[in-house]
Parts: sequence; structure tokens; C-alpha cells
Amino acid sequence: MTSTPLDKSAYEKIKEEINLHNYRYHVMDDPLISDAVFDQLLVKIRDIEEQHPDWITADSPTQRAGSLAIDKFDKVIHPASILSLSNAFNLADLTTWKNRIAKVDDRVERTSYVAEPKIDGLTVVLHYQNGIFVQGATRGNGEIGEDITENIRTIRSIPLRIPVKNKDVVVPERLVVRGEVYITISDFEALNNRLAEMGEKTYLNPRNTAAGSLRQLDSRITAQRPLRLYAYAIVDASGPVPQTQWGVLQYLESLGFHVSQYSTFCPTFQDVLQEAELWQQRRENLNFEVDGVVIKVDDLTLAADLGFAGKDPRGAVALKFPAREEVTLLNDIGVNVGRTGVLTPYAILNPVEIGGVVVKQATLHNFDYIEEKDIRIGDSVFVKRAGDVIPYVIGPVVDLRTGNERIFVAPEVCPVCGQESQHLEGEVAWFCVNAACPAQLVRNLEYFVSRQAMDIVGMGIKIVEQLVTEKIVEDVADLYRLGVDDLLPLEGFARKKAENLVEAIQGSKERPLNRVITALGIHGVGEVMGAALAVHFGSLDALINASITDLMNIEGIGPNIAEAVVKWIQQPQNQKVLEKLKNFGVWPIATQKKNSVRESIFANKVFVVTGTLENFSRTEIKEFIENLGGKITGSVSKSTDYLLMGENPGSKLTKAQELNIKILTETEFLELAGHS
Ligand code: IVH
Repeated sequence: MTSTPLDKSAYEKIKEEINLHNYRYHVMDDPLISDAVFDQLLVKIRDIEEQHPDWITADSPTQRAGSLAIDKFDKVIHPASILSLSNAFNLADLTTWKNRIAKVDDRVERTSYVAEPKIDGLTVVLHYQNGIFVQGATRGNGEIGEDITENIRTIRSIPLRIPVKNKDVVVPERLVVRGEVYITISDFEALNNRLAEMGEKTYLNPRNTAAGSLRQLDSRITAQRPLRLYAYAIVDASGPVPQTQWGVLQYLESLGFHVSQYSTFCPTFQDVLQEAELWQQRRENLNFEVDGVVIKVDDLTLAADLGFAGKDPRGAVALKFPAREEVTLLNDIGVNVGRTGVLTPYAILNPVEIGGVVVKQATLHNFDYIEEKDIRIGDSVFVKRAGDVIPYVIGPVVDLRTGNERIFVAPEVCPVCGQESQHLEGEVAWFCVNAACPAQLVRNLEYFVSRQAMDIVGMGIKIVEQLVTEKIVEDVADLYRLGVDDLLPLEGFARKKAENLVEAIQGSKERPLNRVITALGIHGVGEVMGAALAVHFGSLDALINASITDLMNIEGIGPNIAEAVVKWIQQPQNQKVLEKLKNFGVWPIATQKKNSVRESIFANKVFVVTGTLENFSRTEIKEFIENLGGKITGSVSKSTDYLLMGENPGSKLTKAQELNIKILTETEFLELAGHS
């Protein structure tokens, strides 16, 4: 139960206490109390306010929850123009700016500067009257903005009353502060995940999210968004305020605003250039998007005296980083067929320059992505190119739609071979499963002849590529038709080499059933599954007639793999390949058929998997372990029995070592599972 003090001064004290904890948490990132204790304080203040609604003031923390929706935003006339800046694009431009202003006023040669990050967010103008936040506005056209007071109030890092902690700081009766509202990259990703889970539309980038959140007519929605503010200027004040930019930043900080910790004081212009250089690298490692650095003359009187060049003040300049995102038209969506048969959509774009490179195509990841983001042919789309990643389409600019956009329909057939494409339940990718599809033939052949499959010695990728390019083979079975004379015209083939290869190919007809099954390259059927199928069915004829249910009776095979096998066999082109293999005598019978299901040593065992496995995708290993009676969990704990470790294991490995959990390599695992 909360005890309810009934005098107003006690209420004021709790209010102040909460505002201070709020500041410690949201501005300083250094809370003094736990969330639970903070929540108790909130309960307490709500309790008091319920009994004394007349006590409630604009700076009460309860006012941050948002209030009733409004129809539209009112207009606000700014007390001074909310200016924007001229741009520089490289260090030479910066020097030109400095030389130009030095000509206007020779004090420039002796001035210092402040370099501040240009966070990619939205300008807001915050009005304080007697230290109380009374109004918040957007920039609008620089002269008139929109009244978004209720939305701004929900932003926890904005003080509702200043000064927050140091009571000695003098605050002018009227103070108008400018800052940038933004969202961190991690908050953006978490929010998008949350929206996606609820089946709601996701946002394109942090800036777009901040903009959308600030413009909500219902401030209760804004209150749910992880908006932050950093302050960097005083627009207007009725009393004395610092006359240097560095002084302004320190003053704003002392009032309880969040100012950027990355702002630096540069005594000379040389320091500015050095700092600007440092930003190129620093930018990569920050949890917020920065589109440039703002360089400001520190002496604000000098800055004001420098006046304007056109609409822009001369006293500051924005050094813009190369853009990573641009908007362009999505002319069409093409589909690539990868060497593994995966169909991947890609964007055919109106060429656009992003960070100095002309981008004409960009990836769309997969078909689900197009649907999720509602990307339509003819849309204006955001395209991002950052660091080493392939340019990708972030999403459509819905506001630019004309109504002529077309919804993309995923092709039901492989665009290369025209055969039906397939999709496994629970997996995102669509596949062309035609073993003779030219797009995959190289990879299928390479796999077919590899050591784990038919083990045809002397046949490497180069020969495979020659055979495909010269159209000497059109599917894997054609290998058995090859004679010495077919190989001789190929580059690098003398008679002896050709004879050896033909001999190796013919010799591979003796390979056991499990290898032939593996060699077919059915999605999800590697060495392990190949062996399991061979043991169970004993012949290709039996396998060909198997139903999904038959397949699922096999240890380690779940519905996905069972379906993949049946679909592969039903594919007309694949049936032709099988028929040809049979005619060529590549049709082994297993020596022994397994009758009893072995007791699994993995029954009831808990596995965690880390790194990339050679023989299994994540879905496959899950199915495999579950069929052995075990289960997979996501993180290592005391109840984990085994850590199955693939290539490039992650932090789970260290955790498992710390907890002394048995670690298995994939080979060890397969041995124990009886599949080696
Ligand atoms: S100073 C005269 N400082 O960048 C003062 N702007 O064109 C002009 N911005 O619209 C603004 N961080 O939204 C300034 N530290 C910073 C900034 C900053 C981001 C934005 C602001 C403005 C644009 C500059």
C-alpha cells in the first residue's frame, strides 16, 4: 500500500525526485535506483494526483504517458528563424568555407571552433517558461512549425522542468532551445522486431521512425517509441546566456539536457580538419546514424556578425558524409537462380549514385521480404549502400505512389529452365530443384563428382565448367556417356588425361547406394541423410516409390526433408536423370538393409548449436536431433548436455567451456549418432 502524504510540498518533492531519476536514467545513462523502485514512485505520484487533480502541473512525470488524440497540429510561429546550414562535402570545401569567412571578418583567423555530430534526426524547438516546458514545435519551413507539444512531452530525455539538478544555474524567464530528436540504431531494430511480431508495418530507417513517431496525432503512441533528444542551440532567451557555442553546450548540459558527448572544442582550424578526418572512421561504430559533422565558429557574436550567404548563416557549415541511402525508381524485379537453385529476387533500378558509386541493381533478399515491405514495381524505393554490403532496397516511399505500381508475383517456374520452383514449409527460400537446370548444373556436377559423393578422381571445377559451357553434358547422367573423343577437344586434355578421366567416371558406377543418393544433390540430403535413406530403402527403386510418411519413419528425417525428397523425385526433369542413370548402370543395391531402430544415445539430451554446420542447415539439424529423441535450445545453460560446434563458433562456445559442457564437433556428433 502506498501512504499518501496530503500536503502539497510533499507532492512537489516526489515530483522532483522522479524527474531527477528520470534524468539519471535517460540523460546520464547512470540510474541511481532500480526500475522497480522507480515504478513504485510513479504509482505513488499517480495515487496523489488522483486525490488532488488540481495539483497536477505540466512538469509532472505522469504527463509523459501521452494524452487524447487530436485532429491536427496547430501552427507555431518561431521566435527566430530556425535556420539550416550550407554544406561542405570534403576537407577542401571546409577550407574554402573558412577562407571565405576570414575575408568577411579577420577575427576568424583567431577564432576557435566546435565540431558536433550531425545526427540524422528531426529538428525540434522547445519553449521553456520559468523553467517549465510549455511548448514543442517542428521546424516546418523555418519560420512556422507545427505544435507537437504533447508528443515532445513523452520523450524521457527532455526535461519538463529546468534546471534538473543544479539549482544554482540561472534560467532566463523565457528560454527556447533547439535540438534533434532521433532514435538509436539498436532501439530502431528492437522496435521494428516488436512491430513485425505484432504483424504491424515496420519502419525503413531510424530517421523515418523518428519522423513518423513525432507526427502521431495520438501522443500515447509517441510515448511508446524510443525517441531521444540531443540539444545544441539556444534560439531565444529573455536573459543572459553564454556567447560561445562551447559555453552553450555546457550550459545546456548543466540545465539537464542531453548534449552529445562527441562534440569537441577545436582551438584552431587545423584541429577542425583533424577532427573531421576522425569522424570518417568514428561514424562506423556509433549506435546512431550521423550524416555529417557540423563545424561552428565558437564565438557566437562573431558568428552573428558574419551574417548570411543567401539563406544560410556563414558562422557554421555542415560537412556531409557520402550518403548511404538514396531514393530511386524500381523499374522491375528480376529473379536470379543461384548455383544452389535458390531463386533470389533483385531490384532493377533507375541508376542512382550512392556514395560515389552508380547503383543499377540492388538485392531484395527474398520473396518474403518483398511482401513484408510491400515493395511494388514502379515504387520509389530507398536504396542503401553501406560499407561492404551489397546495395539493398530498404522499402518503398509510400507517399510517392501514383497508383500505377504493380504488385510483384513470385514466379512459379524457374526463370532459367522453366521447371516448377518449390518452397519448403518454414523456409524463406524458393528453389529450382531441377538437377539439370543450367543455372545449377555446374554446382550439381561439382557436387556429384566430389569426394563425399561419386568421388570421380581428376574431375575438378575447371573441367566441370568446360563441360557445361561447351554443352557436352546437360545433366549429371551425361557424364557416363562421355568418351575419350568428347574430351580431347577441350583445353588442357591430352589423350592420357582423357582416358584416365573416362575410366574414373566409369569406375564410379561401383559406388554404393548411399553415395549415389547423396550425389543427386537433393536439398537437405547430404552424406548423413544419404546414408540413412540407403540403409532404410536398400535401392533407388524403393526410394523412388517412397511416400512422405515412409520417409518420416526414418530416424533423423522430419517432414521438411521428407517433402524435399518426394518433390525432387516427382520433378519430370529429375525423373529423366534417374532413368538415364539406370540405363547407364548407375543403380546400386545396398548390401544390407537395416531392420531395427537403434536405441538413440541422444534421447532426452539437450543440444545447443553454434557456428555453421557442414551437413545441416539449422532446420535440418533441429529435425535430425529431434528425431533422435533430443532437443535443441537457443542458449547454453547448466541443463545443456552437448554443445554442437560448427565452423566459426560464437560466444556460446566460451559459455559452454565455462560451464564444463561437453563439446562435440560435427564429425564426433555424426559418429555418436551412428552416421559416419
Ligand atoms: S546547427 C544555425 N547542429 O542538421 C544552426 N544542426 O542543416 C543550424 N543537425 O536542420 C543548425 N545536428 O536538423 C546544427 N549539432 C547540430 C546538428 C544539426 C543535426 C541538423 C539540423 C539542421 C541540419 C543542418
